[in-house]
Amino acid sequence: MMRTFLTDSPGEAAGYIRRGGIVAFPTETVYGLGAAVFDERAVAAIFEAKMRPADNPLIAHIAEIGQIGELASEITEHARRLIDAFFPGPLTIVLRKSDRVPLIASAGLDTIGIRMPGFELSQRFLKECGTPVVAPSANLSGRPSPTTWQAVYEDLDGRIDCILKGNPTDIGLESTVVDCTGDVPAVLRSGSITLAELLRVIPATIMPDIDAPDAPRSPGMKHRHYSPAASVEIVLRAADAHPGERSAFIGLERPDGAFESVLICHSVDDYAREVFEFFRECDRKGISRVYCQSVADEGIGTALMDRLRRASRG
Ligand code: TXA
Ligand code: MG
Repeated sequence: MMRTFLTDSPGEAAGYIRRGGIVAFPTETVYGLGAAVFDERAVAAIFEAKMRPADNPLIAHIAEIGQIGELASEITEHARRLIDAFFPGPLTIVLRKSDRVPLIASAGLDTIGIRMPGFELSQRFLKECGTPVVAPSANLSGRPSPTTWQAVYEDLDGRIDCILKGNPTDIGLESTVVDCTGDVPAVLRSGSITLAELLRVIPATIMPDIDAPDAPRSPGMKHRHYSPAASVEIVLRAADAHPGERSAFIGLERPDGAFESVLICHSVDDYAREVFEFFRECDRKGISRVYCQSVADEGIGTALMDRLRRASRG
């Protein structure tokens, strides 16, 4: 058990990274758990702290576009256009990795996910680190991604060196992941940058069914994910949710009856921002069933429905 240091200074937090430590930090999507990408021991410590399966690759976070050259062996034309359109922002591009990136970071793959967060505090932190920082979401493996520093603390206090405290995250769901190594870009994970937005930049972009047996490899998507301890049931209308013992509801309409916890969201954006923290709140209260109202498959609704479906299988 190590002592986890809490700070709101990006410079102080970056000092732990420079000394080979692991540090949780906020981004616009969710909090990440970072280590210097070229430091194999530090990267290994991330897998240990999170109890993350070794076959699940990490995303490298950068402060400057120039750092992509340290991580990728080639920047494809598709990647270049997506970088111009969406960096910095909630988009991860997958490229062939350079030899310098240790295999432990890419979980043995010859590719690496790269993302430049747009959130100002993340940028200040990453600049001070002076190196690309690999970071999965800063939760214990299998739990909902953390959208507050308190959620990181709940999972990882005593297991990591430092938490850079920031505000709750803006978006609340993880970045859109796009594989740029093939003939056409392929969306491996949906996020707040939608397929429609990607299509405007590269009309050939595809979104394969990532759960199909012949889907392109995105190792993380096969693991149990995003789940509260409670069972999750997706309902079309609030009226389809039935209050029982220890039940909760989250959605856009008010349900009938007495649920132990109810969160009515004003918009799909709010729903996306709140859902993981709501799942955690349900766990703290010992809720056994969470009803989640479905939303339209458009905008961030696509990513939200993806996470709800995965949680409902957990
Ligand atoms: O918004 C985010 O992306 C957050 C913040 C912290 O940046 N990070 C995040 O990381 O969600 P993580 O490790 O929880 O999820 C990474 C996802 C996994 O599904 C993983 O399989 C996929 O990205 N991924 C990473 N590298 C990949 C690669 N080289 N090829 C295919 N998929 C990859
Ligand atoms: Mg994760």
